[in-house]
Amino acid sequence: MLGFIQFATIAVSIGIAFFPDKFLSHAVRSWSQIEFVIDTDDAAHWLVDFQTPGDVVPVGCHSHNDYWRTVPLFSALRAGCIGVEADVWLFNEELYVGHTPSSLAATRTLESMYIGPLVRILDYQNRRAESLRRGHAAPVGVYDTAPQQTLVLLIDLKTDGGVTWPVLQKQLAPLRERGYLTYFNGEKIVQGPITVVGTGNTPFDLVIANTTHKDVFFDAPLDKLVGTIKSPSKRVRRRVRPASRRSTDVGQGLSGTPEYIDAGTFNASNSYYASVSFRQAIALTWHMRLDDTKLEMLRNQIRIAHSHGLKVRYRGIPGWPRALRDYVWRILLREGVDILNVDDLAAATRMLRAGSGGHTWDSGLR
Ligand SMILES: *[C@@H]1O[C@H](CO)[C@@H](O)[C@H](O)[C@H]1NC(C)=O
Ligand SMILES: *[C@@H]1O[C@H](CO)[C@@H](O)[C@H](O)[C@H]1NC(C)=O
Repeated sequence: MLGFIQFATIAVSIGIAFFPDKFLSHAVRSWSQIEFVIDTDDAAHWLVDFQTPGDVVPVGCHSHNDYWRTVPLFSALRAGCIGVEADVWLFNEELYVGHTPSSLAATRTLESMYIGPLVRILDYQNRRAESLRRGHAAPVGVYDTAPQQTLVLLIDLKTDGGVTWPVLQKQLAPLRERGYLTYFNGEKIVQGPITVVGTGNTPFDLVIANTTHKDVFFDAPLDKLVGTIKSPSKRVRRRVRPASRRSTDVGQGLSGTPEYIDAGTFNASNSYYASVSFRQAIALTWHMRLDDTKLEMLRNQIRIAHSHGLKVRYRGIPGWPRALRDYVWRILLREGVDILNVDDLAAATRMLRAGSGGHTWDSGLR
């Protein structure tokens, strides 16, 4: 119940901020809790925040398990993150957001928590920008300070990829129809305010099925990518899995991939991130440091991902103790990792804004 009220609070207050009359009347019909909502400090807080989003400067942080936050999506936007993550489950033709099946709630859907709010924010941003753009340029994004900055919506498909995929495609329609999605048009990438990246059970064969229009990109397996590079003709065997039995446990970057992955499999036309678990791929030495060997592995992974035109993201960064976490963050930034996968938005954005040696997000190629 508390979760629902919190969510209603956000949705309604955003509605007030962006649609003073029309959306509010809609919201009143939708949420009987509105009297409660309007009286809370929270509503006022978010109302103020989203009338003045102009001062937020985006930084390379990715809001890990974003839906767990008291205020999903908006906390990440307020912090200036350029990526948010939602774990998605298909039940009865609806996509629910949550960590486990038992934590799902009727009101917490991909549409209600992410797609709907993003459509409203971007409609609002673009109506304001219209006079400036004179109807020609590409749509602007969520950040006033960086209108061309895309926001990555990382969707982790938890249920069977082949069955969940078409429902996801359908649900993205409101963003797609408004021209808000980054897509590959058969020749090149056309940047949009939102870049949808599929991970978990997202099936690579379906990601690449449409050769003239792709607007969901793959989260490529960085470790496999590295395996293909040692000799250019090398092909890496993934776990054998007949396509007709696309299992739900194949995991990130492997579902629906061809039996052999080679250096030509993943590139910017079909993938956005190359990611791997830091714990598994790099790990720390016994004295909790990255020695020269580990550092060389890290640099190699970053170099290879960038040579494929992909952005590097490490999952599974140790979160505790904090000094250790900060040490790893600092090294990742220094070495040119494109985005920090974080739970603690405040700590991460503080470090990112502190400069980390003048790093900029596209200068990671070395
Ligand atoms: C590819 O996607 C575009 C846009 O959604 C659609 O119009 C087209 O029919 C699709 N092509 C195929 C072969 O599915
Ligand atoms: C990107 O990958 C696809 C296979 O998924 C391949 O057909 C295409 O040629 C590659 N593009 C480049 C520029 O390497």
